[in-house]
Amino acid sequence: MKTIFFMIFCSMLLSDISELPIGFTDEELRNKHLINNMGSRTEPPIGPVRSIAEYEPMQGVLIRYPFGISTSLIAAMAEDVIIYCLVSNSSENSAYNSMNNAGVNMDNVEFINGSTDSYWTRDYGPWWVVDGNGEIGIVDFTYNRPRPNDNQAPYKVSQHLNVPYYSADVISTGGNYMTDGFGISAATHIAYTENDECNTNDQFSIPLSSCEYVDNIMEEYYGIDTYHVVADPNNEYIDHIDCWGKFLSPTKMLIREVPTSHPQYNMIEEVTSYFSSVLTSEGTPWEIYRVNTPNNQPYTNSLILNNKVFVPIMNSTWDGPALEVYESALPNYIIEPFTGSWQATDALHCRVKGIPDLSYLQFISGDVNMDDSIDVLDVVFTVNHVLGMNTLSPNQIQLADMNDDGIVNILDVIQIVNLIIG
Ligand code: ARG
Repeated sequence: MKTIFFMIFCSMLLSDISELPIGFTDEELRNKHLINNMGSRTEPPIGPVRSIAEYEPMQGVLIRYPFGISTSLIAAMAEDVIIYCLVSNSSENSAYNSMNNAGVNMDNVEFINGSTDSYWTRDYGPWWVVDGNGEIGIVDFTYNRPRPNDNQAPYKVSQHLNVPYYSADVISTGGNYMTDGFGISAATHIAYTENDECNTNDQFSIPLSSCEYVDNIMEEYYGIDTYHVVADPNNEYIDHIDCWGKFLSPTKMLIREVPTSHPQYNMIEEVTSYFSSVLTSEGTPWEIYRVNTPNNQPYTNSLILNNKVFVPIMNSTWDGPALEVYESALPNYIIEPFTGSWQATDALHCRVKGIPDLSYLQFISGDVNMDDSIDVLDVVFTVNHVLGMNTLSPNQIQLADMNDDGIVNILDVIQIVNLIIG
């Protein structure tokens, strides 16, 4: 009898650890001050830095075990990409078995050894940039929760994938961040209010007046020249932008919509008109799509993964119309609905995070100096390399090797010249 009670007690404890309740636990609230000690700062990457958007080519996704998503969703993602699963040593076998039993393609699963505190890999997982040398790296931030194991995940991922690691020491969270891949990002007010240096408590302005401290870090470390920080319109504790909006492409954006009788109607329309008034990186107005969420369905909390969009559904009559919005906004994508333990404040996007395709060349062949144009400077760079007067980086060698024969020589120079004279 005693042992049974003990087992029940232990399992209660364990379930408490693996599935933290909404917001902060009592202990986390007491430990909130620890957040400031979790951060660290490195030099920024070599500029110009460019942040990678969710809809760029991805080689994998980051999840953790115990899972926050169904094994059927994991199996679906493993059809196309690698599942990078953070797991503690002692749980690796169970993680393996539960995926294997569910028919996940285990050739596409890699374990990253490391304990985590929660399953919100979106929130604590790495943010990715391309540096001035065309190299992909991680620029870490300080997770806005006192969850030290989670906070260390980006470093562990950088070690596992052998990519450069930088850290900006700005307090943030991935669920409250989106970027267009061209220097524009957006977040709710906590991007400023949770950084004491901003010295603001503003939770109502759309947009907030800028906080130079955060904006400068965003520019230096992430290449963000335009940071839209707006009051969260949802009236929930979480204040994550992924609970109401999403960049679908560099020109398209999705924002939730509610009936006029909904208490948040005015504020949601206010953020929508703000985003209608600002421009995309192409200098055009955003094409804004609206998805109906009358009962606070988390339809904006989806994951774009290469040519697919995984959308959280609720088994409600509103699912169909939501999926149709995605289909019309992204006609070349496959839209795949998934059920789960979704909530208004926490759904599919919160629990998965894309890992960019590290082999994807960030510049076009011939753009050897990586300045986004092919001109005489690229010829000079290549000729100097051939003459042994400078050395190109591995990325640049790939860009200069026009005929793909593994060596950079006069034949490549001729091809670049031909490209220029057309
Ligand atoms: N209870 C979790 C927390 O407060 C929810 C995380 C939701 N994540 C998200 N991207 N919306 O940390």
